[in-house]
Formats: sequence, C-alpha cells, structure tokens
Amino acid sequence: MERGRAARLGVLASGGVCALLMVGVLLAQYILGTKRRTGRKTKIIEMMPEFQKKTVHVKDPKRVEEIICSLIKGGAAKLQIITDFDMTLSRFSHNGKRCPTCHNIIDNSKLIADDCRKKLYQLKETYYAIEIDPHLTIAEKYPYMVEWYAKSHTLLIEQRLQKDKLAEIVRDSDVMLKEGYENFFDKLHEHNIPVFIFSAGIGDILEEVIRQSGVYYPNVKVVSNFMDFDDNGVIKGFKGELIHVYNKHDGALKSTDYFKQLKDNSNIILLGDSLGDLSMADGVPNVESILKIGFLNDKVEELLEKYMDSYDIVLVKDETLDVANSILQKIL
Ligand code: TMP
Ligand code: MG
Repeated sequence: MERGRAARLGVLASGGVCALLMVGVLLAQYILGTKRRTGRKTKIIEMMPEFQKKTVHVKDPKRVEEIICSLIKGGAAKLQIITDFDMTLSRFSHNGKRCPTCHNIIDNSKLIADDCRKKLYQLKETYYAIEIDPHLTIAEKYPYMVEWYAKSHTLLIEQRLQKDKLAEIVRDSDVMLKEGYENFFDKLHEHNIPVFIFSAGIGDILEEVIRQSGVYYPNVKVVSNFMDFDDNGVIKGFKGELIHVYNKHDGALKSTDYFKQLKDNSNIILLGDSLGDLSMADGVPNVESILKIGFLNDKVEELLEKYMDSYDIVLVKDETLDVANSILQKIL
C-alpha cells in the first residue's frame, strides 16, 4: 500500500515536471518568437552601427524602418536629396570652437571694417537667440528673422563687398563641411542623384565653399540668397526674394519648376538643423516617402522633444554625415 502510494506520487511528480518543462518550452518559444518578430520590424536600423550611437534619437523606429525600406525599394531612380547648408552640411563646431555660417565667413573677414563687424556680431547675438528660442513659435520668430536679414544685408551692401574677393575670404575662413562629406557628395554624384541645397545663407559664399571642397558636381543645385553686383563687381543688393530661416516654405513653392522636372524622384531624404528646414520639401508635387534627418546642435535639452516630434531621426551634436551615408549605402 505504502509502495503503491509512493509510485502514484512518483507519477504525479514526473507529470508535474513534464508540465513545468512544457510551460518553459512554450515560454521560451514565445519570447524568441516575439524577439524575432520585433527584430524583423527594425531589422535594418538595428543592424546599422551608425544608429547605435548615443547621439542618434529616433521616436518611432518602426516608422523609420518602413521609410528606409521604401527608399531601398525605390533605389537610385526614385531618390532625391533636399538639404539645408549652414550647420547641416557645414559644421557647427570643431574642437570646441564654433564654425562660421556663410554670413559669418564674411562677418569675420578682412573685407569688413571693425566698427561694422561689431554691429554684425551684435545683431547675431540678439537674433540668433531668437532663432533658436525654444519658447517662441515660428510665427513669433518670423518678423525678427526678416529684421535680422534686412539689417545684416544693409550693412554688407554698405561695405561695398567685391565679387572677386569672395574666393579668398572663403579660403581664409574656418568653415568646415561635416566629416564624411566627400563620401556623401561623391556617392550622390556617382549615381546622379539630384541634390537641392536650400539655404538661407549667402549663395555666392556657399557655392565657393563646395567648389573649394571639390564637391560642386553637376547634380547639385543651390537655391539661396545671391548677391547682385554692379558692372565693377561691387555688391549693390541681393537678387530675388529673401530666403530666411523660417520662410523656406515660400522658397520651396517657387522651385516647383525644378521639382516638376524630378517628378519621378518621389523618394526624399531631407536634411536640416532648424525647425524651419522641415518645409524645404513643400514644393515637391508627389512625395512617396520622405525621411527627415535633423541635426540638433544647440539648446539640446530644451529642444530635443520638439525635434523628435518633427524629425524622423535627430542627431545631437553630430559633426558627421555618417547616418546619412549609412542610409545611402543601403539604397545605392
Ligand atoms: P541655412 O539656411 O543654410 O542654415 O542658413 C541660415 C543661417 O544663417 C541661419 O542659421 C542664420 C544664419 N545667419 C547668420 O549667421 N548671420 C546673419 O547675419 C544672418 C542674417 C543669418
Ligand atoms: Mg541651417
């Protein structure tokens, strides 16, 4: 009797172990399955080392994965790049020192008299603070930007800048393109991908920077504020309508002829550093997929959430084009 009970208990016990084992196996299968499933959702960006850096912030990885998949599927034939210049293609800082914008290249140059330089620096102090103020809306900043450009451009015109001196001041300046710029431009050139550089800087300076860097290829189009010179090559004003940091929407709509020619290039990679840059693709008639990459250089703590809500990928204090290059590597 005692032995029979023990045997029954033994059977029960081994049954329990079996059940426990079964539960364990099912749990393991479930966990592995889930992992595999989520893994599949972000397979591409999870496997890209450039995305693993602490500087990379993505609010919705699944969405970014889907966009990148669609860009890969479309390939070179459907791709175009729309990019800002200052502090996006050019560096914000190098070895702890601020790098110049196109305007600053002139401000810092020997072409500007000292008293005028002082005024330009004061303007920059006042209005740059407004440009990046996390507590003001774009609508509130807008009139101040118009004011900044009007004052700054008036001072440049008063200085009677000469066209033939611009190459030299760019050569003498501290401007630097972001690390990896050669790879970026070379690859886009090699595959003949249209690159639209849309800048509220100064076009003549911008063109000189990319020319001197050896990357002003025929697939690159620059839309910016270009100086107007008199017959003696002295500045007399600026051509066309002003492009400032927060009216890129209007400028984009004026470029519809360019974008119409590229009607099949419906996949876009947009690169910017300001919330104003988000409207740079507004002139594109048919957008299939757009990946927005934003560089956040200043007031990081205050602006990170806003940037993550607006840009698909936010790169904090990133002085490289590594993320963009890694995505291009997948597409091209
Ligand atoms: P972007 O559109 O290529 O970024 O160029 C615009 C930048 O130029 C923007 O950040 C404001 C800056 N800027 C100056 O640095 N100095 C100036 O005098 C003006 C009017 C603008
Ligand atoms: Mg910029």
